[in-house]
Amino acid sequence: MATPDYWHYPRTQLADSVLMAFDSGLSHALTMFAPRRMGKTEFLLKDIAPRAAEHGWRVFYHSFMTDGDEAGEVFRLSLGEFATGKVRTWLKPLTARVSAEVLGVKAELGTKDTTPPHSLTEVVQAVASGGRCLLLLDEAQILTRQARNEELLGGLRTGLDINKDTLKVLFTGSSREGLRRMFSEARAPFFHFGTNIELPTLDRGFCTHLAEAFHRSTGRRLDEWKLWAEFESMGCVPGRLRAVVEAMVLNAELGLEQAVALKLHDLHDEAQYARIVKALPVLDRQVLLAVLEAAALFAEDTRTRIGARLGSRPPTTTAVQSATERLLRDEIITRRERGQYEISDPGFAQWLQSLSQTEP
Ligand SMILES: Nc1ncnc2c1ncn2[C@@H]1O[C@H](COP(=O)(O)OP(=O)(O)OP(=O)(O)O)[C@@H](O)[C@H]1O
Ligand SMILES: [Mg+2]
Repeated sequence: MATPDYWHYPRTQLADSVLMAFDSGLSHALTMFAPRRMGKTEFLLKDIAPRAAEHGWRVFYHSFMTDGDEAGEVFRLSLGEFATGKVRTWLKPLTARVSAEVLGVKAELGTKDTTPPHSLTEVVQAVASGGRCLLLLDEAQILTRQARNEELLGGLRTGLDINKDTLKVLFTGSSREGLRRMFSEARAPFFHFGTNIELPTLDRGFCTHLAEAFHRSTGRRLDEWKLWAEFESMGCVPGRLRAVVEAMVLNAELGLEQAVALKLHDLHDEAQYARIVKALPVLDRQVLLAVLEAAALFAEDTRTRIGARLGSRPPTTTAVQSATERLLRDEIITRRERGQYEISDPGFAQWLQSLSQTEP
């Protein structure tokens, strides 16, 4: 068992409703989107997985985040290991290190064994034959980045379809655009697969909880109301508040405001953001700014404003559309419902906001 993490603020209710949907047979697949650092992985590993195990599910967790070009192959091999009972526990998230081991296994097999590898559908079948199992697939949309994963995705879809009653799956992702590619494109294997659920932003209890954990670990007190105010002003991103509190645990001299200032600076990877902006064509920059301002991108007044800023005639709708497509493709912005767009990384959005406030 993992040692209990007293910093973790449980999302018990959400975990229970997800499990109820699976247990009762109501759902066989759910998808959950939330921006970076909002707590998706923490929810899968610290809320869903242990509770599902209590409910008698075998649980397989896999993150597609770290394996780059090998993501598809590492997944097939990891699931294969799980099916054969070699990977017994979800408590060992498959990080790059483990993946490398798995790939090592592949290399070994490659020299000894010439039988063709099992298809992903076969591997999924093998998992199902072991009984009820919950698959937690973190950032699966990464697979859609490479055309060569199409067959694998198709195989996964088929395997899951055939075994709906035994296998339940929860997909999470931080790229709205990536998820759209995976679940909303009519020709994609996962078109309309699964129901979307929200990861709600954490409530004030999270700050009370953090203040208590802080007291427990340092003996010092933290004003939970001030924490809450900071949490709200940083866009309710738990990963950020945790970083602030962590800085204060490690440095007793640091006050809350100082820690916030320190971490804001850290978290805004300014050099990286500046590089992104610099690499953009001038029109794309203006479209990005319009997204930041939540303007209707193709509306006449928006285009007129863009034209004025560029010191030229208003760009055509087609030109703005192309710029928008480029920003979407590079996952700098994502499409929300009904023609609304947002900047994918909230840290980037905040950084741009602070720039546009200092340089009107
Ligand atoms: N329920 C929670 N209780 C306490 N801390 C949390 C909770 N959820 C998230 N955090 C904090 O936020 C950090 C980020 O969470 P997590 O890695 O789960 O986010 P994510 O949505 O998976 O982000 P990414 O898109 O970067 O993978 C965690 O490392 C943890 O410090
Ligand atoms: Mg994550």
